[in-house]
Amino acid sequence: MRAPLILSLGLALGAIPVLAQEPATPPDPALVDAGHATYRTKCQSCHGPSATSDPGGDIRGKTFRQIRSATAGFDQMPEIPLTEDQMTALAAFLAQLSDAE
Ligand code: HEC
Repeated sequence: MRAPLILSLGLALGAIPVLAQEPATPPDPALVDAGHATYRTKCQSCHGPSATSDPGGDIRGKTFRQIRSATAGFDQMPEIPLTEDQMTALAAFLAQLSDAE
């Protein structure tokens, strides 16, 4: 009797992370909003309201890795410390801008 109970419990617990995963598309609106908020305070002054303006240039569609690399600072791009959550949200925001094209 005990083994089937443990087995079904294991299956139930195993199913939870699958259900909790974010769908790849469409982007989670809350994540996009959080990314937009971070964008406005930390990026918009150089990359503009649509992430296409100078001096920073077009960063629509930049990925988490590209954001992490760029915000470590290079050339004219200053070092901007961000949490991984902020970078994930920024990537979601920038991805949705590039989709709108
Ligand atoms: C003080 C102005 C400034 C701010 C603020 C700024 N950037 Fe930039 N960023 C630049 C400039 C200038 C460049 C181009 C650097 C170069 O090519 O010399 C750049 C380049 C980049 C690139 C690389 C683009 C490419 O074509 O490879 C990414 C990605 C980027 N920025 C992301 C961000 C993000 C995300 C933020 C906010 C967290 C941000 N930047 C805030 C000025 C800024």
